[in-house]
Amino acid sequence: MRRVVVTGAASGIGAALARRLAQDCEVIGLDRKAAPDDAIEFVECDLADADSVREALGALPDRIDGLANVAGVPGTAPPRTVIGVNLLGTRRLTEALADRIAVGGAIVAVASLAGYHPGFEDRIAWLLAADDDAALEWAGSSGISGAQAYDVSKKAVLAYSRRLCARLAPRGVRSCTVSPGPVETPILGDFETSMGGAVQRAAAHTGRHAQPEEIAAVVAFLLSREASWVNGTDVVVDGGLTSRRAES
Ligand code: NAI
Repeated sequence: MRRVVVTGAASGIGAALARRLAQDCEVIGLDRKAAPDDAIEFVECDLADADSVREALGALPDRIDGLANVAGVPGTAPPRTVIGVNLLGTRRLTEALADRIAVGGAIVAVASLAGYHPGFEDRIAWLLAADDDAALEWAGSSGISGAQAYDVSKKAVLAYSRRLCARLAPRGVRSCTVSPGPVETPILGDFETSMGGAVQRAAAHTGRHAQPEEIAAVVAFLLSREASWVNGTDVVVDGGLTSRRAES
């Protein structure tokens, strides 16, 4: 049976993904808060805290087939937290688990349409090269807003995933991202606050927001063996929002 670690498994997209994968995989959920579902093995861990991640690693299996990096915080959080969780937490866990992923396995991170917002392009390579302290120092002292930090964090996750693809493909491990538009989860209200009307405008184009299960289905596919030739790419799952907005 395939064994998959899912971060952010206590809520929203991560919870929907864990439920779906549990039908035919062994799922280990990881989150800073307890999972609502006893059916899934669960490890409590704060991805922003290196000690907490180190402790969690001891509770995770030596060999896994997939890692889904879903946990994230919105732009209503302080910039240091946004960069600390969305980018550095994702990278911390991924680097620690990469060698445990079996041949034929995959890493899938949930990025965002926000990763396509223009700006900060020249900061991304620097951020990926910076150590955690330097990245957090920049997030806290550069004057960027939480919303800007969110865009940067997701842009950096997209770039990091492409780099992982180049690094891990020779070992037979794939790396992809999924970029959702607005999704009906507990943090949608925070996005409404931090993105100033963009979430409502999105619904005017698409008629509704996504359900978490509609994002989880795509992540599950990318993690599966059926996606064996999909690698190093981002799949936008936005109900056509990007195209419909461009054509209107
Ligand atoms: P959610 O708030 O329902 O779930 C996020 C989960 O991440 C929560 O269970 C939370 O406890 C966990 N988490 C946050 N910080 C953590 C930390 N330091 N350590 C461990 N776990 C932590 O939100 P949702 O919508 O399911 O978000 C999942 C991902 O999807 C996030 O990366 C988010 O940025 C992304 N996304 C969400 C969209 C939306 O409209 N809901 C749109 C585009 C991307």
